[in-house]
Amino acid sequence: MSAVLLPTDAAVVPAPALRTVAATAWPSGFLWGAATSAGQIEGAVHTDGREDSVWDAFARVPGNVADGDTPERGVEHLARMPADIALLGELGLNAYRFSVSWARVRPGDRYRNDAGLAFYDRLVDELLARDVVPFLTLYHWDLPQALEERGGWTARETAERFVRYVEDVHSVLGDRVRRWTTFNEPFCSAFIGHASGEHAPGRQDPAAALAALHHQHLAHGLASLRLRELRAGQPDLQVGISLNLTTAVPADPDDPVDVDAARRVDALWNRAFLDPVLHGRYPEDFLADVAGLGLEEVVLPGDLETIAQPLDFLGVNHYHDDCVTGHPQSGPGGLRPTEKPTRSPFVGSEHVGSVTRDLPLTEMGWEVNPAGLTRLLVRLATEHPGLALHVTENGAAYADVVTADGRVHDVERTAFVAAHVAAVADAVAQGADVRGFFAWSLLDNFEWAWGYAKRFGIVHVDHATQVRTVKDSGRGYAALVSAARSAD
Ligand code: NOJ
Repeated sequence: MSAVLLPTDAAVVPAPALRTVAATAWPSGFLWGAATSAGQIEGAVHTDGREDSVWDAFARVPGNVADGDTPERGVEHLARMPADIALLGELGLNAYRFSVSWARVRPGDRYRNDAGLAFYDRLVDELLARDVVPFLTLYHWDLPQALEERGGWTARETAERFVRYVEDVHSVLGDRVRRWTTFNEPFCSAFIGHASGEHAPGRQDPAAALAALHHQHLAHGLASLRLRELRAGQPDLQVGISLNLTTAVPADPDDPVDVDAARRVDALWNRAFLDPVLHGRYPEDFLADVAGLGLEEVVLPGDLETIAQPLDFLGVNHYHDDCVTGHPQSGPGGLRPTEKPTRSPFVGSEHVGSVTRDLPLTEMGWEVNPAGLTRLLVRLATEHPGLALHVTENGAAYADVVTADGRVHDVERTAFVAAHVAAVADAVAQGADVRGFFAWSLLDNFEWAWGYAKRFGIVHVDHATQVRTVKDSGRGYAALVSAARSAD
């Protein structure tokens, strides 16, 4: 067990959660980590040759991002990386999930930028020097803007270009990084980026969204194949993908309209991703729901075989379940407007949407439901035996303040983290092959269309001064990890 320095504080964690975590037979080598992404923390968007990503361009358009925020400053991670990585060590974590910026590695996707790659080279060395396992994501939504101007993910060519970018990253990091994730939450970059338009590149076109979906799947398959070729001599190089899986619960399980709405949402959020990647097919009911919207035209012979490459692990990003109705809703407790457009172009009913239940909500309006995480992990383990799982993201936004004692007493997030780590312990006890857990996020950061207003960090960032303060949730998480690792 590695030494845990200052910020551990078991007193902030509910005792039952601590007991559950301490009593669990965690698999040996379990990864206890925190996650970030390049576009949300790095800043320095034009340093060392980096050029715009779609998020830089999107955020410049007034009205796209709350308060007119942009990723330009991020949390200055590019400049502050060694100190940020030192925090992982202080928290006693043994893994770090980060993403690499395509726009930094291949500016405008024109050439391999060694100055950009050098940052990730230093980052990986810094992690290894602290015995922290690097867990690398290749695509966390920040496509080079120059590629968007050539069609972006609606163009098949982008999937092929992705492989060249992956080769460049591998050429520098392949000797030291063992865990590779191709895509993070392709649901968001395909559907929120191209159907509802609330994310970059901000398109509102169902056909574009479906083309983006398929080309990201294809890029995942092609990149997995290439990484497998490149790993000759490195048999422990693992390739996976992180999906935001969201259990769709019918508001009234006895109402066929709600049951069908939940079926459609499950197809769109979950099975349109799991089935191609794991089984090489799109679900029949999903194909029926999107018939005539153009998916048929972009799926070429052989694509689905390419997409269904063996996965070494599935990354599960879990924030909440979704209680779904097919009936019109209005007023408080009714449809959440920001979620509705994400679905309406596909599910064939303008009424399909979410209803709130009698559960606490985070500042994002998302349900707090740790039992949902246990259920999801156990369902995946049951339906896909032999598939190793990592919880690659889990976390919550709350409004935080640094109090006079210099601390952030984020009571709700502290309880959230403890309850969700205990929920993973329950899944492990029920036989799910979970190998890692990553808190989202190490640092407060640029929360996409919400800008800097929503804080997910277990470490607080003062966005004016860039001062970092470990929150109580970070101290509590450190205590849970210490309890879990002491039995390792
Ligand atoms: C999932 C995304 O991967 C991440 O970028 C985002 O900040 C969190 N969800 C919270 O919304």
